[in-house]
Amino acid sequence: MKLLEVEDLSVEYHLPQGKVKALDNVNLTIDKGEVVGVVGESGSGKSTLAHAVIRLVKPPGKIVEGRILFNGKNILELSDEEIRKIRGKEISMIFQDPSSYLNPVYPVGFQVAEVYEAHENTNMRKLNGEVVSLFKKVRITDSEVRVGSYPHELSGGMKQRILIAMAIALKPKLLIADEPTSALDTTIQAEILSLLNELKEEYSLSILFISHDVGVVSEIANRMIVMYAGKVVEEGPAKRIVEEPLHPYTKALVLATKTTRKKKLFSIPGTPPDMLNLPKGCPFHPRCPYAKDSCKEWSYRMIRNHEGGVACAIYENTGSS
Ligand SMILES: Nc1ncnc2c1ncn2[C@@H]1O[C@H](COP(=O)(O)OP(=O)(O)O)[C@@H](O)[C@H]1O
Ligand SMILES: [Mg+2]
Repeated sequence: MKLLEVEDLSVEYHLPQGKVKALDNVNLTIDKGEVVGVVGESGSGKSTLAHAVIRLVKPPGKIVEGRILFNGKNILELSDEEIRKIRGKEISMIFQDPSSYLNPVYPVGFQVAEVYEAHENTNMRKLNGEVVSLFKKVRITDSEVRVGSYPHELSGGMKQRILIAMAIALKPKLLIADEPTSALDTTIQAEILSLLNELKEEYSLSILFISHDVGVVSEIANRMIVMYAGKVVEEGPAKRIVEEPLHPYTKALVLATKTTRKKKLFSIPGTPPDMLNLPKGCPFHPRCPYAKDSCKEWSYRMIRNHEGGVACAIYENTGSS
């Protein structure tokens, strides 16, 4: 059985100016021990997907359609009490900005201990040893001293390690990482990625790893989905997507990543879509170098192949579906 199955998930934000379909019939699965990457430009719906999976979409957002099966159970049908038990314990999350999730007035060790206390009724004083070993696990040097530090005394990378410690404390089955390295410089980014890779093995973690950077995702993910304007436009093995992207948008994303690393900035032509007013047909057609007139009328469909799929008119009738 799959650990997570997202089926035909649609999420809308109802704003005074109109309706934004932040997720439009999104499908995604994660196996036990698998790392699935989600890539796409800012505004493509990545965080909305992360929040939906633990039912944290807040008004004006609303899940309007779909099922989210975790271990075969539909998360959308659980009671508030049941979902609270799953959050943090079976599914946990780390975010781009660790500072906003740490309380400035308490030592970080205490905050990590609270995670155990909230779910397991353990005595706080007995927890110090557990927290120190958890700090060691996320490779915080001088763990015994660091448990007493306050957030402002720690670097960004260190704070992200604390958040990872909190996220793995209760040995969850699924970790959702929403741009966990995007605020860090490249060296620290690589360290955090290698830490997550190690923890994945040790805890048999499944990870939903979100980033706007295809290069970063390909360093950790087995499979990848590419999102544009709330839709999945490509899905496949991470390595193949980076080496041989199919969708013109994925090609542009990959090119943007590669040239950025050589410090030559390449940006995807045109502007990201206006989510309140998406173009007709393929939403990428105004920016697509391969667009034909017919793309303005093309109705979205995923053209499946043996390893995933691509949603682009170029691949219609090529015999791969
Ligand atoms: N709290 C919100 N209120 C209104 N609209 C939102 C909110 N959060 C997200 N959106 C809309 O949903 C779209 C997807 O946002 P998001 O999931 O945050 O994308 P990403 O994480 O890929 O940058 C955005 O284009 C934005 O218009
Ligand atoms: Mg986001």
